Amino acid sequence: MLVPDGLSVTTTTGEVALLRPVAEDDWRLDQELSRVPDVTRWTYYPPDVAEEEARRRVARNLEIRAAGRGGRYIIVAGDSAVGTIGVGTRGSGPFLFYALLPVARGRGLAIAAVSGLAGWLLAHGEPFVAASTMVGNTASERVLTRAGFEPGELDVEPDGVTVRRWRLGAPP
Ligand SMILES: CC(C)(COP(=O)(O)OP(=O)(O)OC[C@H]1O[C@@H](n2cnc3c(N)ncnc32)[C@H](O)[C@@H]1OP(=O)(O)O)[C@@H](O)C(=O)NCCC(=O)NCCS
Repeated sequence: MLVPDGLSVTTTTGEVALLRPVAEDDWRLDQELSRVPDVTRWTYYPPDVAEEEARRRVARNLEIRAAGRGGRYIIVAGDSAVGTIGVGTRGSGPFLFYALLPVARGRGLAIAAVSGLAGWLLAHGEPFVAASTMVGNTASERVLTRAGFEPGELDVEPDGVTVRRWRLGAPP
């Protein structure tokens, strides 16, 4: 899968953020996100990871990128790393995942990052981009709706978690 080297995105209020590829030192942000209760509730982040585990997670991200199986980015607003967005593949096409630190929420950054990365993937040959939300994650449902994704069926993941599938197709 082709992924961008980096991407600049703009919110509807004109704030510009940079999506830059995850680097080794970003384990700190991973650790911080793992301490945010709704991040561990609505994503597969394990709670309160130790440095070693956070470093392992980032190393895995770097391997996945090197293997051409996706890419994960840090959302940088101003000079701060405020969240993350990534694209992976499960053999059935690209899917997005994302999380923001509470301090950066409510500014449209997630909508801009999701729209920007999905738009880039569609413009570079992917016929569609997918995402999944755990039932009850209204904030993320709103993000996907605002980014133009269509809600699909409910589905049960192999680990038993019920999710709604979402898709954004390439424009005709
Ligand atoms: C999902 C998440 C990234 C959204 O961050 P955010 O900063 O609120 O996102 P944005 O500001 O770009 O947009 C959020 C939209 O959802 C709405 N929203 C936010 N929280 C909401 C809530 N609890 N209920 C309903 N709508 C909500 C906002 O009003 C906004 O929509 P609007 O612009 O139409 O008003 C953030 O809540 C988060 O990190 N959650 C935990 C991790 C997670 O759920 N990741 C996604 C897994 S699928």
